[in-house]
Amino acid sequence: MYGMVNEGLRIFVEKEHGSDMWREVCDMAGVEATKFERMTSYHDAVTYALVGAVCQKTGKSADEVLQPFGSYWVDFAGQSNFGTFLRLAGNTFVERIKGLDDMHDSILLSMPHLKPPSFEIAEIGADTYELSYYSEREGLSPMVIGLLYGLAAETKEKIKVEQTVQKAAVSDPDVFEVTLLR
Ligand code: HEM
Repeated sequence: MYGMVNEGLRIFVEKEHGSDMWREVCDMAGVEATKFERMTSYHDAVTYALVGAVCQKTGKSADEVLQPFGSYWVDFAGQSNFGTFLRLAGNTFVERIKGLDDMHDSILLSMPHLKPPSFEIAEIGADTYELSYYSEREGLSPMVIGLLYGLAAETKEKIKVEQTVQKAAVSDPDVFEVTLLR
């Protein structure tokens, strides 16, 4: 993944646990550098090793690390120009979800090795939506849950998210039920 993700994780971990912890995480992950070039593409294995080391060092599960990181990412990545692009998609949670694919696609121009996720949203009842998340990667659905809560916090909406389907094959989506709470 692009170094921007590893940098987001570094700043998130340093905020929560301090910079000594981050150095220990990098040591444990067998990653030499402690900082990353945001616009350089690194092997996914680097990101997974870093997340694994954060879990081991903090005693937290992958869910407990990835979900709050997802919420943090909305702030962190939202500060970039790409975040402005996403806000232009609309002022509501649902409008911004609908703008996610275009936003990630627009990043492709500056990050040509990007392997962006893709989202589909369908209204299935009053204030209830089915959200499908497609990715070439495994294990990131807890991060998506955090991302969704972070996105809703930004538009000052309250939501409840439950994962209803865990993908069985790479081409399948993970599916979530998202309810807007009034
Ligand atoms: C706010 C601005 C955002 C920016 C600038 C941004 C940018 C990025 C970048 C650079 C990556 C790395 C992909 C790669 O290196 O291949 C990424 C991954 C990802 N993004 Fe975004 N993102 C943003 C918001 C969001 C939001 C709000 C969501 C979901 C609600 C989301 C979902 C994801 C997921 C799930 C991944 C992991 C990659 C995967 O699933 O395969 N992003 N994003």
